[in-house]
Amino acid sequence: MERKITVPDLQRMKDAGTKITALTAYDFSFGRIVDAAGVDVILVGDSLGMVVQGLETTLPVTLEETIYHCRMVARARRRALLVADLPFLTYQVSVQDALRNAGRLIKEGGAEAVKLEGGIAMADTIAALAAVDIPVMGHVGLTPQSVHRMGGHRVQGRRRGQGPGERERVIADAHAVADAGAFAVVLEGIPLDLAAEITAQIDIPTIGIGAGRHCDGQILVLHDVLGLFGDFAPKFAKRYADLGRAAVEAIAEYAGEVRGGAFPDDAHSFLLRAEQPSAATIDVTPAPAIDAIPTPPLEHGPPTPIGGAPRRSRRRRAVG
Ligand code: KIV
Repeated sequence: MERKITVPDLQRMKDAGTKITALTAYDFSFGRIVDAAGVDVILVGDSLGMVVQGLETTLPVTLEETIYHCRMVARARRRALLVADLPFLTYQVSVQDALRNAGRLIKEGGAEAVKLEGGIAMADTIAALAAVDIPVMGHVGLTPQSVHRMGGHRVQGRRRGQGPGERERVIADAHAVADAGAFAVVLEGIPLDLAAEITAQIDIPTIGIGAGRHCDGQILVLHDVLGLFGDFAPKFAKRYADLGRAAVEAIAEYAGEVRGGAFPDDAHSFLLRAEQPSAATIDVTPAPAIDAIPTPPLEHGPPTPIGGAPRRSRRRRAVG
């Protein structure tokens, strides 16, 4: 197996000029696919509110929901560094809240690091988390949890000034996050020259989304990359596949075959065995220790859950 990516590896990658790749995932199947594709960082983002739950913003996402999704991805992940978002209001009220809730993402969710939004205002919180060895990824610029202050998901840092969302303030926020002890920072929705300036000024890796090519790495929302989220296509999100359309076509074909009687045919049915003329029943025997999930073949075999031996399927399957 290729070596596991760890928190210090990201710093080594920045120092060596190796681009960091990151993508979101929210469940076991896609976690396995993203990991198998060799992406360095998997983020269980609070974007799950929009692309999984169908919400308008990330604000209603809860800690329990994030832990639930993170556990699924943790079971799938073998190589990538797993980072989980602290949802809105799980870290802003007090440092104690932040410590407890970040700890739950690590302990119950299986995350190896947490991400939180905000710069100067979050410096003490980041420092407190870092002091107890909970690695923190910062997030400045367009911070979706500030949607109401920004008046929508708007590009930040275009205007000069020190006010929230203004250029010099975004730079100061990135410095505050780095100085507080974050191991990396997401730069979202800012002009590419501003991202280049920040990337050159701070020592920790910058991971861009809608922030241009000069960042140390890039992150996108999985559903945007795969074309699974038809309602909204942000300008910065390149679609590398149209799985949404392919899925609709496949499902429509299935429904058509069921209606027309073409499915199930004999090849997908259990037949009586010729050598067992009296057998009017179907054998049911234990399944082998393989999770027969039809995803692309993994180089490294079936996944191992956190803290456990390879899973043995408890499913019983009919053989005919
Ligand atoms: O929630 C999320 O998916 C994120 C990334 C887009 C950076 O914060």
